[in-house]
Amino acid sequence: MKRLILLLLFCHLAFAGKIVKHSLTFFLTASSGVKNIPDYVVVVLVDEVLVGQCDSVRKIPETRQDWAQKMIDDYPQHLQMYIQNCLSSQHENKAHINMLKKQLNKTGDVHIFQRMTGCEWDNETGEINGFVQFSYDGEDFLVFDLKTLTWIAPKPQAVITKHQWDRDRPENEWWKYFLTHRCPELVKIYLDYGKSFLMRTELPLVSLLQKTPSSPVSCFATGFYPDRAEMLWRKDGEELHENVELGEILPNHDGSFQMSVDLNLSSVTPEEWRRYECVFQISGVKDDIITKLDKDVIKTNCVSPSEFPASPVIGGVVGLLLLAVCITGVFIWRTRNNGFRPANSSDS
Ligand SMILES: *[C@@H]1O[C@H](CO)[C@@H](O)[C@H](O)[C@H]1NC(C)=O
Ligand SMILES: *[C@@H]1O[C@H](CO)[C@@H](O)[C@H](O)[C@H]1NC(C)=O
Ligand SMILES: *[C@@H]1O[C@H](CO)[C@@H](O)[C@H](O)[C@H]1NC(C)=O
Repeated sequence: MKRLILLLLFCHLAFAGKIVKHSLTFFLTASSGVKNIPDYVVVVLVDEVLVGQCDSVRKIPETRQDWAQKMIDDYPQHLQMYIQNCLSSQHENKAHINMLKKQLNKTGDVHIFQRMTGCEWDNETGEINGFVQFSYDGEDFLVFDLKTLTWIAPKPQAVITKHQWDRDRPENEWWKYFLTHRCPELVKIYLDYGKSFLMRTELPLVSLLQKTPSSPVSCFATGFYPDRAEMLWRKDGEELHENVELGEILPNHDGSFQMSVDLNLSSVTPEEWRRYECVFQISGVKDDIITKLDKDVIKTNCVSPSEFPASPVIGGVVGLLLLAVCITGVFIWRTRNNGFRPANSSDS
């Protein structure tokens, strides 16, 4: 369980927001004192799809999509940059962890340092949003403000570092260049190669699940893409808000997504059941997937344990999925002092 919590912590930044625009995200996790987990892991996500990764154990970046591999093949300088950044990051991250441990008066052996950087590009308005943020042991530590080229410190303990980093004008200018020019360029190139994969629509399989006759009925959709989807329960055609619990959208290991919405039926009589239905909607598809509440189609734990994602099972699966997404990673960037530089324009 402790391990699962750690894994979830690993990913808290990556899944913090639903990304509606096209995006490229580099997500670094460096840890100390965690057994059986690489010291650092970087994953590269395009529209939240894992395209590449590298970690301290394997060191050589790997791509996770054929089209990303093709892109790398066509832009060899890109691969060189990945390799260089992957190798150089190892010691710098350890130094970061130790420095922050001192500065933040942290005790204990287990520490996690994360950085999320990247950009979002709105294909219609052309608007570009860049972001760099650091967190330590799961708490936000410093966030880059692209307008003022300074760092925002959500916690007083980060103020010393904020002032140090604010003074490093060339570095902050470099971040601005990377976030507003280089990163959007890369998003467009990745999108061009991954178009047919990233812009596909896949509809889910929707099932009704119930643990015991008195538990809420869970409407479970799995296998959809993209992650721009909504689920709700309706009664007599009206959306319900009470007694409804909407789950988060979670990644499946095949790149598709799953989510569920629970309905507590404890005060509903069996005759009323037919007035309820579960609705799944996905962006770009006009027709909703509607599942009528019907005792006969509900799968229960007793009948088919292998199909039923009871909560411990969900926990385990989610843990493994997050592990798959988060533990392995293309190491595209170095620690802050070097940033993420295209190999051909590196001046250091
Ligand atoms: C941009 O948006 C248009 C219209 O919404 C769409 O047809 C096109 O495929 C999009 N291109 C990219 C690269 O997102
Ligand atoms: C860390 O602890 C020392 C001694 O206990 C204290 O003087 C210092 O202000 C603390 N620093 C922070 C950032 O809390
Ligand atoms: C369902 O609702 C009933 C009463 O409205 C409540 O007592 C019960 O705890 C709820 N069950 C769950 C799992 O939330």
